[in-house]
Formats: sequence, structure tokens, C-alpha cells
Amino acid sequence: MPAKLLKGAEVAKEIRAELKAEVEKLKAEHGVVPGLVTILVGENPASQSYVRAKQNTAHELGFHSVQDNQPADTSEEKLLDLISSYNKDPQVHGILVQLPLPRHINENKVLLAIDPGKDVDAFHPVNVGKLMIGEPDYLPCTPAGIQELLVRSGTEISGAEVTVVGRSNIVGKPIAMMLLQKGKGANATVTVCHTRTKDVKFHTRRADILIVAAGVAEYVKGDMIKPGAVVIDVGVNEVGKTADGKRILKGDVAFDEAVEIAGAITPVPGGVGPMTITMLMKNTVRACKVHNRIKD
Ligand SMILES: NC(=O)c1ccc[n+]([C@@H]2O[C@H](COP(=O)([O-])OP(=O)(O)OC[C@H]3O[C@@H](n4cnc5c(N)ncnc54)[C@H](OP(=O)(O)O)[C@@H]3O)[C@@H](O)[C@H]2O)c1
Repeated sequence: MPAKLLKGAEVAKEIRAELKAEVEKLKAEHGVVPGLVTILVGENPASQSYVRAKQNTAHELGFHSVQDNQPADTSEEKLLDLISSYNKDPQVHGILVQLPLPRHINENKVLLAIDPGKDVDAFHPVNVGKLMIGEPDYLPCTPAGIQELLVRSGTEISGAEVTVVGRSNIVGKPIAMMLLQKGKGANATVTVCHTRTKDVKFHTRRADILIVAAGVAEYVKGDMIKPGAVVIDVGVNEVGKTADGKRILKGDVAFDEAVEIAGAITPVPGGVGPMTITMLMKNTVRACKVHNRIKD
């Protein structure tokens, strides 16, 4: 029997409806509106489309949303000043600087300049550290989306063998850390693979939950998956264009093979991707509540 599809797009829609209701309640009962500013430096088309999607979702949920576009030659100093002013702006609860930044700007310096309380991407070392000790204020968006998808699909995480392929700071490492924590939606035994791992297949075949964030199109084949496993495909790889110019996207998992072996699998597109933006919105609503001392 083919695997059950874990449709992130549908789950994300469900969460967005919950968030919209929460935003309306915040307005009606407390007179506050979650505010999100997205800063884009330069004209990278992929970044422009990500930023547009984030702002559209913020708008749809009734946020105060600001898209701040700066030219590619913006100096580091100017960008840091801009962040400093948003740090002080009481209408702004979440600040997102779209990466990558132009080469003349030091990304780490910029991420450090964001007030950790407004760091809705959760990339600031303070937020990374809090996640590490199991006391996060904000969870990084893609890993949070993966965990939410697992929990809402009723996947047993506690005690499960989880293998993560990829050790990036934005996906692999944080999702491994999150599933390792004590508590709800975690308590897994986690293995992390990377390019120096001797036998990736050995680890992926042991996994009850396999999370692949390698950035290599169709890297995980059917014979690398344990029968019945839950497979989360984070990869988004452009492998060509259709005749009418649309991007052809493939995940990091060879879907046609995997769907015959896995118990459940996320499609690409429509799996993890839509969850990521939704978790950014969730973090912004949380930031708004924290700033206004509103309890859940
Ligand atoms: N859907 C979403 O919302 C979303 C969000 C973020 C990323 N993504 C996608 O997820 C993928 C990963 O993103 P990322 O930012 O984490 O990528 P990244 O920074 O390029 O990291 C890739 C990781 O995979 C490992 N890796 C690469 N090839 C491998 C191989 N053959 N065997 C074992 N490990 C291998 C690398 O190992 P080394 O460390 O040894 O180099 C690295 O740790 C990309 O396709 C990206 O577009 C999707």
C-alpha cells in the first residue's frame, strides 16, 4: 500500500486559521496587532519571492506587516541602524532579515543585532542557546514546521529512532536538538548524518522517522528507507523549467520509490515548505503576546 501523504499545505492552512482567530482576539480583547517587518537587501529573485510569500501570509492573518526593501549597495552600518530602529519600534514584534545578504555585509553581525525577543527566525545565538538547554522562546521555523507536522499526524516520536540527513544550522542541527529534548513531541533517539558519515544508508534504514535536508535532488532512494518509516523530505531542488518557464522542483527523496516503502511521506512541493512560513507567523504572534505581557 502506498504511503500516507503528510500534506503540510493542508496542516498549514489549519494552523493559519487558528492564528487568524488568535489575531482577531488580540485586537478585540487587548487592542494589539502582531507586527512583522521583513528586510530585503538587493534584488535576488528567489529572496524576493520568499519575502513576498511571507508578507502575503502576514497580511492575510491581519498583521501589521512592513516590507522594507533596501538597495543592493546598502552599507552594513545603514542596515544595522535600520535594525536598531525596528528593535525600538513598539509596533514591530518580529524582525526578519532575508538571507543571503550581499557579500559586503557580515551576516552574523546582522543577526546578532536583532533583539532576541524579536528574532522570529530564531537564528540569534541567544535563541539557539535557549533551544539547546530545552527552554526555547522561539523555535526556528522549518524545524518547528517539521515537528508540528509529525505531532499533528499522530506520529509516535517518543522512543523513536530518528535519522536526520544534514547538519545545517537552519534545519539539520536544530531539528535534531528539538526531537532529542525531554517533553512532548520529542524524546527521540537521534542520529545526524553528513558528508563525512561513513555509511549513510546504514543509518537511514534504521530510522522510524527519516528527515532529509541535504539539498541533493532525489538523494534518498527507496532501498535507504525502512519499510513503514515516516519520511520528511525537506529538500527543495530546482531541476529544470517547464516549457512555460515554471520551476520543476524535486525533493531530497526519490518520491516514486519512497512512496511504495514508507508508511508516510511529505510531498515536494506541498510538504514542509508551507509549514515554514506558518511557523514564522506563529512566532510573531507569540512575540506580540510576550511584548504585551499577554498570557496564552
Ligand atoms: N522547505 C523549506 O522550508 C526549506 C527550508 C530550508 C531549507 N530547505 C531545503 O532543504 C535542503 C537543505 O537545506 P540546508 O539549508 O539545510 O542545506 P545546507 O546548508 O546546504 O546543508 C546540507 C547538509 O546536508 C549534508 N549533505 C549534503 N550532501 C550529503 C550527502 N550526499 N550525504 C550526507 N549528507 C549530505 C551536508 O553535509 P556537510 O555539513 O558535511 O556539508 C550539510 O550538512 C535544501 O534543498 C533547501 O532548499 C527547505
